[in-house]
Amino acid sequence: MQIIKDLSADPVAAGRIDPTKIAFGKTFSRHSFVAEFQDGAWQSARIAAIEPFSLHPGALVLHYAQSIFEGLKAFAQPDGGVALFRPERNARRFQASAARMAMPRVDESLFLDAILGLVSADYAYIPRFPGSLYIRPAMIATQPYIGVRSSTDFKFFVVTLPAAAYFPGSDSGAGAVDVLISESVVRAFPGGTGNVKTAANYAITLQVTSKAAAAGCGQVLFLDSSPARRVEELGGMNVLFVENGSLVTPPLNDTILPGVIRDSVLQLAKDQGLPVREYAYTLKELQEGLQSGKITEAIACGTAAVVTGIRRFHLESGVTIPVGDAARPGPVTSALFEHLQGIQYGWLPDKHGWLMRVDGVHLD
Ligand code: COI
Repeated sequence: MQIIKDLSADPVAAGRIDPTKIAFGKTFSRHSFVAEFQDGAWQSARIAAIEPFSLHPGALVLHYAQSIFEGLKAFAQPDGGVALFRPERNARRFQASAARMAMPRVDESLFLDAILGLVSADYAYIPRFPGSLYIRPAMIATQPYIGVRSSTDFKFFVVTLPAAAYFPGSDSGAGAVDVLISESVVRAFPGGTGNVKTAANYAITLQVTSKAAAAGCGQVLFLDSSPARRVEELGGMNVLFVENGSLVTPPLNDTILPGVIRDSVLQLAKDQGLPVREYAYTLKELQEGLQSGKITEAIACGTAAVVTGIRRFHLESGVTIPVGDAARPGPVTSALFEHLQGIQYGWLPDKHGWLMRVDGVHLD
């Protein structure tokens, strides 16, 4: 599909974005991509100055949360070029999310063209290391209708944001965060939507995330609803552990989001000769493993979070369980962080072919 471009909006001066001074999520680039699904087809694909949408108050997304999204990043490369990290994975997950939420398919070619076109248009917003450009594709149901059924009309849009560390204070190295273990609120359940990237999965975490923030925690660890209370994932990213030198993470199922960074980190661990075990600890096993020193590291990993160390878990009772020495990210966390970052910024060989170059863009 042809994308119409109106790039008359003033660009920022290239090089003006200081990656150490960006608060995640607040600064948007100048343009956005938008297309509408009407009469059974995507139409009017365009890249133009970012502007507010006008939505009918009866739009289905506003009432029944028919809404999905993705998150990926573009990285400045040593030769001045720009590369996306595994965008085809996001394209495929967007399709899986759309199918689960009864929304129309976005072909991989349209998904990628939208992102490549937008990143080229706003290349001046791509911060250099340690920053990156965070890319947020999304789809919402726009038909005005107050009845519970799928919309006939949708909007697919992409915005981009110059980004640095997701967790404040983690701007160099892997960083470290405190995490509240949610014993009373679950995020997902078998047969639900935990394995797709739909907005409601995030909305239901907000109440406990606010409580966590008040207790000094940057994330929440969710458990499944079985009596064993097995570890699933964090509110906005996957979770991994280091036990006796092996990397351990819950296996994918219908309650866990198949993270692109999760998949990449598991591959890098294998490349480093680290044994990988897909196993979901029960809460009791996690507590005992941390207290006995068998579990030495815990890791939050995702597009926004990259690879961040977890330094302490907090139970709802107020009990705190330190991870390792609770002072700094552990050696496995740091090695995985450095390895992933090295590939993303083009310093290390991309032996799995994870980078997709954005043609025709050169940062001075
Ligand atoms: C991402 O990492 O891209 C996400 O969508 C998670 C969110 C916490 C920003």
